[in-house]
Amino acid sequence: MNVIVLHGSPRKGMNSDTLAGELLRGLAETGDHEVKHFYVNEMNIRPCRGCLICASSPTHSCAIDDDMGIIYDAYRGADLVVWASPMYWGYITAQLKTVQDRMEALAFEGFDGKTSAVLFTYNHHYESAANMFRRIAPHFHIDLHVLACRTYDPETKASLPIEACTKELSEAYTLGRKLSEAG
Ligand SMILES: Cc1cc2nc3c(=O)[nH]c(=O)nc-3n(C[C@H](O)[C@H](O)[C@H](O)COP(=O)(O)O)c2cc1C
Repeated sequence: MNVIVLHGSPRKGMNSDTLAGELLRGLAETGDHEVKHFYVNEMNIRPCRGCLICASSPTHSCAIDDDMGIIYDAYRGADLVVWASPMYWGYITAQLKTVQDRMEALAFEGFDGKTSAVLFTYNHHYESAANMFRRIAPHFHIDLHVLACRTYDPETKASLPIEACTKELSEAYTLGRKLSEAG
């Protein structure tokens, strides 16, 4: 499979990246896949300006010329898209939301046949973000898998290192294996 990983956290290598890493470990153990990583915080991706030139242009191209072009190319060829993000104020990070908005230009071709694995790390809640992905998945015929990992202990009110989340890390690994076997 062709796999792209959209890393939403500005904290490279931390919770959501670690969760994504476990999914990729499961994938790698059960198949040969080409994986491309996009650390969106490090990329020059400007926000959608709502011009809708993508809607009217014959090729449905985005009018903004920036690093999103690299993601467009990779996304088109991807079988599996991994969205890995911490929750920031009830949604994915602004960096990843910017990428999501710019996907408008791809929506005209549709997303049929793509699988999305959406991985959240969070302290208190993730459903608001998960529900948006769940709402659009049937419309776009996306095979959606959502996995969330709470990196916070409400009893002690302390952050948990992701390494303590053994159940969720194992779920991510198992999901990777399952997606590899299905793909
Ligand atoms: C600015 C900011 C906003 C946050 N907002 C939320 C939130 O709305 N809901 C929540 O459950 N956690 C929230 N968190 C906690 C992070 O989602 C959580 O610590 C996550 O595991 C960090 O993942 P990372 O290590 O991949 O960056 C927030 C953290 C930051 C820094």
